[in-house]
Parts: sequence; C-alpha cells; structure tokens
Amino acid sequence: AGHPVLAELARHRLVPVIVIEDPSAATLLGDGLVGGGLPVAEVTLRTPGALDAIATLAARGDLLVGAGTVLTVDQVDRAVDAGAQYIVSPGTSAEVIARCHERGVAALPGAVTATEVQAALTAGVTTVKFFPASTSGGPAAIRALAAPFAGVSFVPTGGIGADDVAQYLAIPAVSAVGGSWMVPREALRNGDGEEIRRQVAAAVSAATK
Ligand code: 3PG
Repeated sequence: AGHPVLAELARHRLVPVIVIEDPSAATLLGDGLVGGGLPVAEVTLRTPGALDAIATLAARGDLLVGAGTVLTVDQVDRAVDAGAQYIVSPGTSAEVIARCHERGVAALPGAVTATEVQAALTAGVTTVKFFPASTSGGPAAIRALAAPFAGVSFVPTGGIGADDVAQYLAIPAVSAVGGSWMVPREALRNGDGEEIRRQVAAAVSAATK
C-alpha cells in the first residue's frame, strides 16, 4: 500500500490516536505502547507539547511515530523535523499530501466520500483515513466505497472503541483501525503507564481475535 510505513501500520492493525498535554509523559506513553505490544503512535498536534512528545517518541527508535491533526504544509515540516514518519490529516489537502511526498513521509489523509477518495487518489495516495468513521456510515459505508475503489485501503477512525474494532477489521479493504480509546487521556494525564499498557494490550487482543 504505497509507502512502507503504511504497510507497517497495516501489519499492526491499530493506530492509537494520542492527545498529550504534558510532553514529559511521552516516555511512560512510549513504554506503555511498547509494553502493550503496539509500538505505534499518532500524536495529534492539538496541544502545545505535541511536537516535543513526537521528538521524544521518535528518538527511542522502537516506535512508529506519526503526527495527527495536520492541517497545513508548515505543520508537515515541523512534524517531520521532530521525527514524524507519517502524517495524518482529518481531511484531504493536495498541498499537505504533496509536502509529505517531498519530505519522504507517508500521508494518511481523511476521506469519507467518493469525491474525497478520488481527490486522494489524484494526489497519489491509496490509503485513506475514513474519518469520522462512526458518523460517516460506519462499516457499511466503507464496504460500499470499497466496491468502486479496488486497491484503496481504509483506516477508519473516530467513534470506534473496543466493542466495534473487530467489526471494522473484518472488512478486507480496512488495513488498520485508529482511535483514542487505546490511550485514555485520563491515564496519560495521571501518568498511569500501567493503565496505558493494559488498555493497549486489550486493544491488541481485540484486534487479533
Ligand atoms: C482523530 O483525530 O482521529 C480522532 O479524534 C479520534 O477519534 P476518537 O477519539 O473518536 O477515537
């Protein structure tokens, strides 16, 4: 599926979406992810400490680190400079995708309509984030979109939890599922690395059923 990093994400089947308020929690976050069996992180650029957290996680070398909520070309540059290996956006921007390709990182743009999937294809992308998944038709919508777009992989994210992750992963066109339920914001805020490890391990077990 295009960039090797996307194949890696597909291999892990899960993309934890992270909102980190205090970048000094990045180490226990990384330990919880690796310890739970999911060495993957999508750190959203929604908090001032996000880029520092990306830098800390990327420097470990044992995690696949991406930036999420990337809306501008400038944010692509800052995330890649910090060490992000893939760039996730809520929607599809040709400019953002072009910069990702210039910088040699994978782009994972959001698309939930046929027009948006076509725009992503035109921009050179064959894996899209189906976001927000639960309010955009869920599994039925992905199956319907996959019919005309053979060769496109979907990463549904948004409103997905432990109870419905398997339902999405059962769709052949779904390469991985994303979501924030795997790394509870409260656990991160409390510095509860053990709780993060537990939730991550539970998600991995739900995804491999
Ligand atoms: C995202 O940016 O991908 C979403 O905020 C994640 O959605 P969720 O919190 O519903 O899992």
